Amino acid sequence: MEANISAHMKAAVYSKAEAGKVLEIRDLDQPLPKDNEALLRVRAASVNPLDWRMKTERPGVDVAGEIIAVGKNVTQFKPGDAVFGGGKGAFAEYACARESKLAPKPEGVSFEQAAAVPIAGMTALQALRDAAHLQAGQKVLINGAAGGIGTFAVQIAKSFGAHVTGVCSTKNVELVRSLGADRVIDYTCEDFTEDGERYDLLLDNVGNRKLSAMKCVLRPNGKCVIAGAPKKMSAVFTWLLKIFARSLLLRQNFKFLIANINRDDLTTFGELITAGKVTPVIDRRYPLSGTADAMAYAEEGHARAKVVITFE
Ligand SMILES: NC(=O)c1ccc[n+]([C@@H]2O[C@H](COP(=O)([O-])OP(=O)(O)OC[C@H]3O[C@@H](n4cnc5c(N)ncnc54)[C@H](OP(=O)(O)O)[C@@H]3O)[C@@H](O)[C@H]2O)c1
Repeated sequence: MEANISAHMKAAVYSKAEAGKVLEIRDLDQPLPKDNEALLRVRAASVNPLDWRMKTERPGVDVAGEIIAVGKNVTQFKPGDAVFGGGKGAFAEYACARESKLAPKPEGVSFEQAAAVPIAGMTALQALRDAAHLQAGQKVLINGAAGGIGTFAVQIAKSFGAHVTGVCSTKNVELVRSLGADRVIDYTCEDFTEDGERYDLLLDNVGNRKLSAMKCVLRPNGKCVIAGAPKKMSAVFTWLLKIFARSLLLRQNFKFLIANINRDDLTTFGELITAGKVTPVIDRRYPLSGTADAMAYAEEGHARAKVVITFE
C-alpha cells in the first residue's frame, strides 16, 4: 500500500550549530517505506544512549505505533497493525522500520511500554540467554541495575531462576529490590569488587570499572558480559580493545555484546511482559516538543530505566 507522499510531519532533527549539534523540531515530508519496510504512525518512542552518543541527523530507534503503509515485499504486517521494534528516525510523528525488526505489540501492553523494550530489552535478553547461557541457581551481579538494560536484566535473570545482585545508587535501591533482586549494593557506600563475593556472571552495563577488578569477582568458570561502555566516545575504542585482548589473547571469559533487534526476540519479550515476568519501568515521559530535554536528562546517566517520547 502507498503512503500519502504529500503529507508532512513533525520530527526531531539534529543540526550543526556553533556550540555543537542542536536538536530541534522541524516540519519534514513523511518518509516513504522501502520495499522491506513499514511506515508507522508513531505512538511512543524511547531514548537510548545510542541516540545521545551518535547524534545522528534523525535520532530515535525504539518505536511503537500503528502501521499505515507497507513496502511491496512486506508479508507479515498490514496497515492498522500495532507493532513495536527498531525504527529509523523514531522521534517523529511517522517513521519507517524494516519488517524484520518489528513484532506485533501484544494486547494489554501499552505503546509506551512496548517502545521501552527494543534496544535495552534485546540487550538484557541476549546478554543473559545467549552470551552468558545463564542457568537457574547461578549467581549473577548486574552493574547498572537501575538503567534501561539493568531493570530488564534483573527481571529476566530472576525469571531464569538466578540469584541476582544489583548495583545502583541509593535512590534506586528500593526500585531494584522491587524488581526482584535478592541483594542490592548501593555503590555510593559499598564497592562490589571489594566485598569478597564471587559470581558466575557479571553483566556490566556501566563501563566504569577496570576489567582486572571485574575479573576478581568471578568464580573460576565465571563469565563477564559487557554491554556498557565509557561515556566519553574517545575512550570507547580503547575499552573495546582491552575487552578483546582479555578474551582473545588471555582467553578469559570476557565478552562484549552487541545487541540485535529481531522479530523472534521482540516476540519472546512481548510474551515475558504478557506473562507478568517482566514489566518495563518508565521514568519520565516527554512530548515530541520536549525531545531535547528528554535526551539531556538521559545523557546525565541517571535515568531510572526508560525515558519515553509519547504522542498519546
Ligand atoms: N552493547 C550493546 O548492544 C548496547 C546496547 C544498549 C546500550 N549499551 C550501552 O550500555 C550502557 C547502559 O545502557 P542503558 O540503556 O542501560 O543506559 P541508561 O538507562 O542510560 O543507564 C542509566 C543507569 O546507569 C546507572 N549508573 C550510572 N552510574 C553508575 C555506576 N557508577 N554504577 C552503577 N550504575 C550506574 C544509573 O543508576 P544510578 O542513577 O542509580 O546511578 C542509571 O539508572 C550504555 O553505556 C550504553 O551505551 C550497549
